[in-house]
Amino acid sequence: MQISRKDFGPEFHWGVSTAAHQIEGGYSADGKGLSIWDVFSQKKKKILGNHHGNISCDFYNRYPEDIALMARLNISNYRFSIAWSRIFPSGSGPVNQKGIDFYNRLINLCLELDIQPWITLYHWDLPDTLEKKGGWTNREIIHWFSDYVACCIERFGDRVKHWIVLNEPMVFTGAGYFLGIHAPGKKGLSNFLSAAHHAAICQAEGGRIIKSLRGSCKVGTTFSYSHVEPFRNTEKDLIAAKKTDALLNRMFIEPLLGMGYPFREVRMLRKIENYYKQGDSARLAFEMDFLGLQNYTRELVRHAPFMPFVKARIIKASKRQVEHTLMDWEVYPPAIHHALLRWSKYKNVKEIIITENGAAFADICKAGTVSDYKRIQYLKDHIEQVLIAKREGVPVKGYFVWTLMDNFEWAEGFHPRFGLVYVNFETQERIIKDSGKWYGNFLRVSDHPAEPA
Ligand code: FCB
Repeated sequence: MQISRKDFGPEFHWGVSTAAHQIEGGYSADGKGLSIWDVFSQKKKKILGNHHGNISCDFYNRYPEDIALMARLNISNYRFSIAWSRIFPSGSGPVNQKGIDFYNRLINLCLELDIQPWITLYHWDLPDTLEKKGGWTNREIIHWFSDYVACCIERFGDRVKHWIVLNEPMVFTGAGYFLGIHAPGKKGLSNFLSAAHHAAICQAEGGRIIKSLRGSCKVGTTFSYSHVEPFRNTEKDLIAAKKTDALLNRMFIEPLLGMGYPFREVRMLRKIENYYKQGDSARLAFEMDFLGLQNYTRELVRHAPFMPFVKARIIKASKRQVEHTLMDWEVYPPAIHHALLRWSKYKNVKEIIITENGAAFADICKAGTVSDYKRIQYLKDHIEQVLIAKREGVPVKGYFVWTLMDNFEWAEGFHPRFGLVYVNFETQERIIKDSGKWYGNFLRVSDHPAEPA
């Protein structure tokens, strides 16, 4: 199928996404406090190759060049996150004016170049001072987070129309507070359930605060979503898939939609009620203007009697010998279509934005060129699936590629390159990959002339 930008209509939001900790560097510049990722990455053997994000893409200093590059690629929406500890170095208390100044410069430059900023308030880099007090496991986080959100809306809400409260709560609570493989490296059920419940309250509370301070802003929040299927067509695998799906895909969206946590499928989740205070059930719900869907793959799941809680195990793509990316994520474009259809069946979902989709492949830079044809195919195939869903009536209103440029991929360090733009981390040189050129051409419209990339 030959697709063009026009098929999506003029109102569709096309963009790219990044996150502060993955690109900014400047980890202690201009009064910034340390975040849990700054601290976690200093520990041995937590990050592949012992990499860290201290400098990363040096976006903190090089943002003018990177935003100009974005404009050259005809990208008119930019989703980025604010590093909480640039604004409040200790998480709460006095504001760091220099941190505010940085985001003001960034926002103003975007607007000058006709790029709409979409700001994520929390993309995993909790101020370390707050982690020392328990971080997401401490219910006080609701106050800390509320103050931080209010401050950002007061300072930037006059120019920024789109706000995203949290990035993928399942991932930062699951990997960070249950498995211990992401910052802050905590483990166990009680850490996970308390962190998860507080995050679920914060996602709704954040929405309420933004709307009460600036009713004209559009507010949303994002969720990771991997389409889950049973490995074999057996009763046991079907049950395992159902449980995994409830945990991965339903645990945070459903309470927000007023449906509560999926207790029926995953019984251990009931223990989350130990962290309830009066009024929490109602507090979990909020009607967002849009929901951010972040999809990369599908998961096949089989029954595994010794796995705690869900008795299920994911069978990796490489084991199944199917096409996969450097993250060992299967390349399976229909997953995004399944996800969109499913979300559109929920009540109260007004608009869906694909806030992340993309792939890491082994890019090679030769004579100033990166011929990443696999990434181009991946993007085309996924965008096509989004169009199919849109034509079927799903209210999908935007698509953001993960990501503008190669960056610090959390526990995987700098190995997996997801960017449309190649970054040489030794010299900080940027080279537009063939996928970047392709996206730039795809986005070109006659009434928005731009030079060829
Ligand atoms: C998502 C994260 C994003 C990036 C991509 C590859 O889960 O939100 O920061 O790491 O995965």
